[in-house]
Amino acid sequence: MTQLRTIPREQNRQRSLPEPAKAHERVLFYEGDRIYLRPIELTDEHKLRQWVNDPDIWQYLMHRQPINAAREREFIEGQGRQPGEYVLGIVVRNGDRLIGSVGLHGAHPVNRSATLGVMIGDKAYHGKGFGTEAVRLMVRYGFEELNLNRIALHVFAHNFRAIGCYQKAGFVHEGCLRQALYRNGQFVDEYLFAILRKDWLAQRGLSDE
Ligand SMILES: CC(C)(COP(=O)(O)OP(=O)(O)OC[C@H]1O[C@@H](n2cnc3c(N)ncnc32)[C@H](O)[C@@H]1OP(=O)(O)O)[C@@H](O)C(=O)NCCC(=O)NCCS
Repeated sequence: MTQLRTIPREQNRQRSLPEPAKAHERVLFYEGDRIYLRPIELTDEHKLRQWVNDPDIWQYLMHRQPINAAREREFIEGQGRQPGEYVLGIVVRNGDRLIGSVGLHGAHPVNRSATLGVMIGDKAYHGKGFGTEAVRLMVRYGFEELNLNRIALHVFAHNFRAIGCYQKAGFVHEGCLRQALYRNGQFVDEYLFAILRKDWLAQRGLSDE
């Protein structure tokens, strides 16, 4: 007679239960097609610190000094406390993988303007449209939720991928600050781009009236 093997109850229960979700997983704040935006948590600190210290990344960002763990933690802990500052993690829906961050800074209640910053820190995700989607999503958040009228950004003139991304997201070139930045042993130009609420609405066939 064949003996039936039974699975001990405790083992059986463990097998049928899904892996417990980590505290920061599946927190969805603002939804896009391939990505969503969520708050940045202290558990993201190491990833963020690796990215902002990566020469391939920081060469295009405004900071020059190395960012240590204490400073990165301070930045994360400050999120949600400073008025006018909105920084969110960019997560690829497929696999819930954090790949970067996007933010609106210095949102002004009277001028209704803010400055956008974005970083796809995981280089495997560069040039695949995720940056453009993140920028579009943050712009929509700025106009639809924060009631902004203008979103501007600054970019190095030689950051062609970023410029391509911003133009696809509807930003227009407003000016050039000649030799405004010193990078890699030389002065480089800085471009100013912006998108106005009326342009953004017009791109959707809408108007404020
Ligand atoms: C800038 C950044 C956010 C762009 O995001 P991304 O996902 O890599 O870019 P996307 O794929 O959405 O769009 C890039 C566009 O620029 C184009 N592009 C890339 N290299 C280019 C070049 N050398 N010349 C012209 N266009 C270029 C791409 O072809 C693409 O347009 P397409 O889809 O029509 O082909 C991301 O690369 C990044 O975080 N880089 C490092 C940090 C950084 O530069 N941050 C911005 C600081 S202002």
